[in-house]
Amino acid sequence: MIEPEFIHFKEIKDYRGGLVALEQGQNVPFEIKRVYYIYGTPANTRRGFHAHKALEQVAICVKGACSFLLDNGKGKVDCRLDSPAVGLYIGKNIWHEMYNFTDDCVLMVLASELYDESDYIRDYNDFLKEV
Ligand code: TYD
Repeated sequence: MIEPEFIHFKEIKDYRGGLVALEQGQNVPFEIKRVYYIYGTPANTRRGFHAHKALEQVAICVKGACSFLLDNGKGKVDCRLDSPAVGLYIGKNIWHEMYNFTDDCVLMVLASELYDESDYIRDYNDFLKEV
């Protein structure tokens, strides 16, 4: 069994629009060492296809929407991110794939570590062995 772990951020809204603040150790449950974002993803593209040995991440669709497949080796779940005020927590050892990107999607990801290829598990059978 696996349930998506959503983080609902406080939205500060007034006549000028909305604002969300992301703060490490407050509404983001780790020290933020890296931020990256994915955009301009063509329709029918699937990305991800990996898990991490140690990395923790929070993914936020700051514009548009996309879907996630999450897999902990015991169960799989699909969910959709379509709000700049909702984050999806992705802990270690979660196989994830992203798909069904809208044309305007900007998927921002907060990460607990710098980029490290050796932290990736890119083979699904290796992932199943790890978990
Ligand atoms: P990749 O892991 O294929 O992206 P996705 O998880 O969306 O499928 O990453 C694409 C390329 O970008 C790959 O060459 C690694 C590089 N990259 C960085 O240099 N830094 C980063 O923080 C990330 C996430 C990727």
